Amino acid sequence: MKKSLTKGITKGTLNRKDFLLWMIGFSLSSSIITTLVTLYKNIIPPERSLEGKLQLSWVDVGSESMFNEIPKMVYYGEEPIYVYKLEGEIVAFSSVCPHVRCIVQWNPTDKPNPRNGEYTYDCPCHESSFDIYGRRLWGPAPRGLFEQKLKIENGKVMLGGGTPS
Ligand code: FES
Repeated sequence: MKKSLTKGITKGTLNRKDFLLWMIGFSLSSSIITTLVTLYKNIIPPERSLEGKLQLSWVDVGSESMFNEIPKMVYYGEEPIYVYKLEGEIVAFSSVCPHVRCIVQWNPTDKPNPRNGEYTYDCPCHESSFDIYGRRLWGPAPRGLFEQKLKIENGKVMLGGGTPS
């Protein structure tokens, strides 16, 4: 006899055992799909691109004199960005970790990183670290921090070019 998914269902009646089996199958399938989607999102990092989803026009984040060699967090839209002077030039790096998007902290312990004796950006989630140039030093992050486009206009620091996400 041929088995079918509708076995036990006849003209508006539903066998209790088949209904329970159907519910268990549905729940298991939903759980498996949810787990696979979650794993995929956490294992495959988001792509970094200058043509990111958030496209803002140039945003004034403060006067040039506000920034020194210590990274200062500002916002470009909702994206937290570190802005500071590096070798005399103002630079900007996204604080979003390229692994799974936790926010990296500049020098969170107020001491040099014991692994290399230098100040670093450290990710609190899975311990990726990045140097002052945004380069990945270690950890699961697949690459360095996203460098944000900036320009100086009339003494104002302007961020632009979209975000990495
Ligand atoms: S989010 Fe995993 S190392 Fe940063």
